Amino acid sequence: MPRILLARGDITVQRVDAIVNAANSSLMGGGGVDGAIHRAGGPEILKECRLLRAERYPDGLPTGEAVATSAGRLPARWVIHTVGPVYSRSTDRSGLLARCHTSSLGVADALGARTVAFPAISTGVYGYPLDEAATVAVRATLGAETRVEEVRFVLFDERAHSAFERALRAALDSK
Ligand code: APR
Repeated sequence: MPRILLARGDITVQRVDAIVNAANSSLMGGGGVDGAIHRAGGPEILKECRLLRAERYPDGLPTGEAVATSAGRLPARWVIHTVGPVYSRSTDRSGLLARCHTSSLGVADALGARTVAFPAISTGVYGYPLDEAATVAVRATLGAETRVEEVRFVLFDERAHSAFERALRAALDSK
């Protein structure tokens, strides 16, 4: 079970082996954390994403799956791109959100990454309520079979940070 830390700030400056990107299935970049990672990491990342699309994912990266590229100019060694589910009031997509975390940790294991930083996946453009997303993210991470030693949730604002604090406390209390 990986140690979980919470941090406030920008995921692109985290000094970890791998940072996880809340991408979309095109892997061609976007806004939010996706935009920040491509801006800070530079064109190398997009170049590798184009190759991944051409060689492995002609129809795009499916929701819940994860794939790695180098990290370009970022302090991290790799970027693990994953596609979160768009929130739906009528369909429970928490399993897909959980899979974003376990798939990303699986990719981290394949790389030999021991420290991984996650953003609050799906809680921005994809509209997932923070408390629900935080609970899914923390539980999936605590329950993952992985050799990753440290998972850092990097929260961009106070609301997200408090939601993850509540979710982490609840998950650890129930252990
Ligand atoms: N560092 C850490 N977290 C960040 C950063 C950053 N630099 N920038 C934004 N965030 C936070 C947002 O505040 C939000 O809590 O990341 C969380 C995820 O929000 P989004 O980036 O909008 O990602 P998501 O909701 O998963 O939507 C993905 O948005 O940017 C596009 O291309 C992306 O189409 C995809 C969609």
